[in-house]
Amino acid sequence: MLKITLIFYLVNFLNCEEPKTDIVLVQAIFRHGVRSILIDYPNDTFRTYWDKYGGYGQLTPVGMKQLYEYGIFFKNRYSNFLSPYYHNSKVFAKSTDYDRTIQSVLSFLSAVYKPSKDQEWNSNPNLSDYLPIPVRILELASDKTKCERYEELRNEMRSSHEYLALQAQNQEFLNLMIEKSGLTNLKNNQYMIWQIADKAMVEEAHNLPVDKYIQDNYNKIMEMNDHTFQIDFVTDEMGKLNSGGLLNEIVNNIKKKFIGSKAELFVYGVHDNNVAGMQKILNTSNKFVQPEFASGFVFELRKDVENNYYVQVFSKNNKFNEPNILSLVKVNGCDELCPLNKFLNLTSNKLVTNFKEICQAKFTGQNEL
Ligand SMILES: *[C@@H]1O[C@H](CO)[C@@H](O)[C@H](O)[C@H]1NC(C)=O
Ligand SMILES: *[C@@H]1O[C@H](CO)[C@@H](O)[C@H](O)[C@H]1NC(C)=O
Ligand SMILES: *[C@@H]1O[C@H](CO)[C@@H](O)[C@H](O)[C@H]1NC(C)=O
Ligand SMILES: *[C@@H]1O[C@H](CO)[C@@H](O)[C@H](O)[C@H]1NC(C)=O
Repeated sequence: MLKITLIFYLVNFLNCEEPKTDIVLVQAIFRHGVRSILIDYPNDTFRTYWDKYGGYGQLTPVGMKQLYEYGIFFKNRYSNFLSPYYHNSKVFAKSTDYDRTIQSVLSFLSAVYKPSKDQEWNSNPNLSDYLPIPVRILELASDKTKCERYEELRNEMRSSHEYLALQAQNQEFLNLMIEKSGLTNLKNNQYMIWQIADKAMVEEAHNLPVDKYIQDNYNKIMEMNDHTFQIDFVTDEMGKLNSGGLLNEIVNNIKKKFIGSKAELFVYGVHDNNVAGMQKILNTSNKFVQPEFASGFVFELRKDVENNYYVQVFSKNNKFNEPNILSLVKVNGCDELCPLNKFLNLTSNKLVTNFKEICQAKFTGQNEL
């Protein structure tokens, strides 16, 4: 009891040390919601199940609901800050050029903004609380253009001694997975386990029975999936190539607040590699795993009474069926309430302004690895 009381006082004391601040700008980046599988394979029980949702890689109703609920949560959380209604000088949304990210942003926004009296446009009661809000294409994080430099670094990691040793150690297990799934591309490519891990996560989210061989080896599959995913983000450069452009947007949006921007909210619909890359370059204090569907970060620009500015960053990584939670994280060892100048300093060499240039291969002649 004494311990609890002490902790209580300590927490209170620490809180008193922090200046009282108000929000000035909120920016949310998130991975798209739950989708259909990306590819099938010979022994896939549900090969044709996804046709009704438009086939592979499409946001499903489960994913739409996931982002809608995050939107409700977000609206409540920022109800004292966000204007109650959409205005084109205050709200900006962007997405990569994929159906699933665009639809995720639309689902999210449909929960955050309902039409005001003046914005009412449809007397059909089924549509009366829907307001169409523009979503623009995020050019910088376009992963439709392959980043050659990233491919190069990833190939280097995947041919490292450590990686190959792990693969040899897992060979027997991989052989079993090949036999059961019919996925021959798992041979000598342990990272291809993502296909089975992803299928399991997607099926669970849609209440489909997961194949027995996957259930029987569930933890091992997920552990391998997380591990090979981490290998894709070992170095800072790998993080920067995936998310430095997005971070540059975030930083520019902050800077524009000091030259008259009226913006309140920026929303970015992206992918797991962008969320993971952001975690890598911000060197946040949370554990590195493959980001869940609809996971991401929230950046708050805050101001105290003496006009000192700070950045506070939150991580969201709950599963589709868990409550939405934003956890405060530290950016690269800065305080949780990170002074703006320090935040800008810590991120200054992580920004990407010219995606094309930074993505050029360096090991010329080895591009075909
Ligand atoms: C609203 O939706 C319900 C249920 O789908 C439907 O029966 C009804 O006709 C719709 N109303 C209008 C005005 O379209
Ligand atoms: C599918 O699974 C069965 C039973 O485990 C196995 O015999 C078969 O080789 C697997 N592969 C294909 C491509 O059907
Ligand atoms: C990441 O942050 C930790 C402190 O949280 C620090 O010790 C470490 O040096 C940082 N890494 C990099 C690459 O900046
Ligand atoms: C960041 O801060 C350090 C220490 O104050 C300073 O040496 C460095 O030049 C700063 N970097 C930038 C880009 O402002």
